[in-house]
Amino acid sequence: MKILLLGKNGQVGWELQRSLAPLGELVALDRAGDVERGLCGDLQDLDGLRQTVQALRPDVIVNAAAHTAVDKAQSEPELARRLNAEAPAALADAAQAAGALLVHYSTDYVFDGGGTAPWAEDAPTGPLSVYGTTKLEGERAIQASGCRHLIFRTSWVYAARGGNFAKTMLRLAAERERLTVIDDQFGAPTGADLIADVSAHAVRQTNQEPRHSGVYHLAAAGVTSWHGYARFVLDTARVLKPELPNKAQDVAPVPTSAFPTPAQRPLNSRLNTARLRQTFGLVLPHWQIGVRRMLTEIL
Ligand SMILES: NC(=O)c1ccc[n+]([C@@H]2O[C@H](COP(=O)([O-])OP(=O)(O)OC[C@H]3O[C@@H](n4cnc5c(N)ncnc54)[C@H](OP(=O)(O)O)[C@@H]3O)[C@@H](O)[C@H]2O)c1
Repeated sequence: MKILLLGKNGQVGWELQRSLAPLGELVALDRAGDVERGLCGDLQDLDGLRQTVQALRPDVIVNAAAHTAVDKAQSEPELARRLNAEAPAALADAAQAAGALLVHYSTDYVFDGGGTAPWAEDAPTGPLSVYGTTKLEGERAIQASGCRHLIFRTSWVYAARGGNFAKTMLRLAAERERLTVIDDQFGAPTGADLIADVSAHAVRQTNQEPRHSGVYHLAAAGVTSWHGYARFVLDTARVLKPELPNKAQDVAPVPTSAFPTPAQRPLNSRLNTARLRQTFGLVLPHWQIGVRRMLTEIL
């Protein structure tokens, strides 16, 4: 099996380099591509992407690249649309022509965040931001292309590598006596490693069972708020490394309105993952298991 991976250095892309490697020949690109081999990895270059797929003729294309700066996307909608909608559309057309399976990632931000029930895949969408709107356009373009595809909508992604919410909380707790954290947005922190492992598993099964093609919700089990997440991070860090500087006596819950941002976030980001678990026979571990493991790695 030949696999083309785009966005190899993002949170999910980095973990996919590990999880996809045992499946076959992996060609992993970042936006600079592979100049020597004439391969383009830049999502802004639609012709370059098409030519790369034609030249490589991969069995699987995995797109882990995207415009993920949610607030910045509000002021650069053309770029967000190019990366999140037009590039996936071009990849989908190229995948269809090459007979390849396209694996793509989307987001809880396609929903408006109303209510408290976990969203099913076929629940009505209603993005609140440019990021959510363009990601939804990307999904629709892939579905319309007719290519075999796996679209994984995920939420609150973290990785041990690079910056993340837990590292920010640990830094702030070392500096301040009081932290304020949003307690009215709910979701499940989901490790990039889990997303990558599930992706590899699903690719293998979908290559044998093309009817598995479709949209799936992929998130860790359980639910929390950002406030609950912060409390768990600080409590766990205290146990794992008691000598860690921690001035924060108080982690105060505040509403979303306390932190105005250019992009509106959904309050309810709970994702119903039953379709994924049943189709692929998988168990999705509780979010605390992955976060504790990530903390053990970084502390
Ligand atoms: N992060 C979340 O909480 C979250 C939640 C739900 C869904 N998702 C989705 O999950 C997927 C993976 O997200 P992630 O958290 O791994 O994102 P990430 O860490 O921000 O990685 C995104 C990658 O896209 C690359 N990229 C940006 N512009 C590019 C371009 N023009 N050409 C090629 N590559 C480009 C970035 O490269 P540079 O480093 O060079 O900029 C980066 O490596 C995305 O589809 C995202 O929408 C993420």
